[in-house]
Amino acid sequence: MRQEIKKGKTILIDGPACVALQFGSMRSFGALIKAGDHFVVRWGKRIPFEAIEDSQIEILLGNSASFSIIDEDPIPQSWKDAANRILATDGSITVAVLGGVDSGKTSFCTYLVNIGLNGGRSVALVDGDLGQSDVGPPGTLGLSFVRRSVIDLVNLPLDDAVFIGNTSPYNVIDKIISGLLKLKCEAEKKGSNLIIVNTDGWVDGAEAIKYKYQLISSLKPKFTVVLQGDGSLNPLINSLMNVETHLLAVETPKNVKKRDREMRRIIRETLYKRYLKDAKVRTIPLSWIKMYGNLEISGRVDQTLKRRLEEIIGNKLVYCESSQSSIILVLKEGLLLSEDEKLKIASEFNRPVRVICEGEERGLLVSLEGSEGKFLGIGIINSIEYDRGILKVYTNVDETVSRVCVGQIRLSEKGSEIEAHLKVVSKGSIGGT
Ligand SMILES: Nc1ncnc2c1ncn2[C@@H]1O[C@H](COP(=O)(O)OP(=O)(O)OP(=O)(O)O)[C@@H](O)[C@H]1O
Ligand SMILES: [Mg+2]
Repeated sequence: MRQEIKKGKTILIDGPACVALQFGSMRSFGALIKAGDHFVVRWGKRIPFEAIEDSQIEILLGNSASFSIIDEDPIPQSWKDAANRILATDGSITVAVLGGVDSGKTSFCTYLVNIGLNGGRSVALVDGDLGQSDVGPPGTLGLSFVRRSVIDLVNLPLDDAVFIGNTSPYNVIDKIISGLLKLKCEAEKKGSNLIIVNTDGWVDGAEAIKYKYQLISSLKPKFTVVLQGDGSLNPLINSLMNVETHLLAVETPKNVKKRDREMRRIIRETLYKRYLKDAKVRTIPLSWIKMYGNLEISGRVDQTLKRRLEEIIGNKLVYCESSQSSIILVLKEGLLLSEDEKLKIASEFNRPVRVICEGEERGLLVSLEGSEGKFLGIGIINSIEYDRGILKVYTNVDETVSRVCVGQIRLSEKGSEIEAHLKVVSKGSIGGT
């Protein structure tokens, strides 16, 4: 359908929809849109298009899509003031963006990216939101060097990434902070002079505040923009007063679209699929790679130890390996160790033992990395064939793989998230399964 939008009015489009500007000119999150430009508004996303002159668009609305026309400017004055202040500062600048869930963090980043590009900056976006990532698959921190204006950050190319392997930050704070520092340094080295770091929406409570305080203290951004939401972020703002950063509190736009947990999960699943496009099952000998993260299997069986453990448990083991710090043993699917057996092993070897069941690796999300840890892409473990010493992984990465980092996210064959945590992660004790 065709829709006219008078100069000064804004059309808010809730996807899934396709939009093409037929005549006139518009703006979206600071990006200029000319006649002939066309865009996709994803499912779950709302995008404002503001008419700079009388304009007409062609809209194709998908299932459950809608639109409305409003009179006011979709960009709050506080966003414009913050962007002006940031861009008035010379030199290489890092800007961290904090705020609660659905507070407009991604949209503020999009706006600042575009205003930065308009002002001739060399812009990099570092995405620190594991659960609702815009750049890169969920569970990773992403880096994109932004070449042209953008209305949905999800369309930015992924130039580098650090795989974390979780969708929430709670247990991986240190990894997130060091990963963000790495990506920020990379952006600086490659000459970016406006580095925008988006973060996750965990801001409530003492733990979250401590985490964000640590993050800002380590990242040392020149500016920290806080999307204020309903105004409950005062404790966070107060704690950041002690950090050397210019704090800019900005409003949450009143037209933000909220997303529930289910929508968030579906958006993540779409992203896994996108980053697994054209994937095939690839076979990699364990001896060629280093597996690390939540599952560390070297493929080198310790035969003497295996025989001794088989004596203790009175059953065949699928696999067993040892290092100075621990013993890993893999049991046949469905087998359990009794308390007695666990105690016996613990006292005899005096080392932490990790017990894994064959098949437990299936569905775990991994990152495949090249030499020097370069992120190549993600994959899903299909199986580990312990007897042949091979890893089968569903991935579209075809380069040489040196390392495989195993995460805690588990996906079904269809790419749906399964709420499960790998039991072998508990260290220092026998984790019976
Ligand atoms: N000024 C605005 N006008 C209309 N829609 C907006 C505006 N700002 C944001 N939105 C829409 O509201 C939704 C939530 O905003 P956004 O994604 O920026 O928030 P967020 O804090 O990044 O959320 P999350 O916690 O999921 O990462 C998005 O669909 C976004 O496009
Ligand atoms: Mg976001």
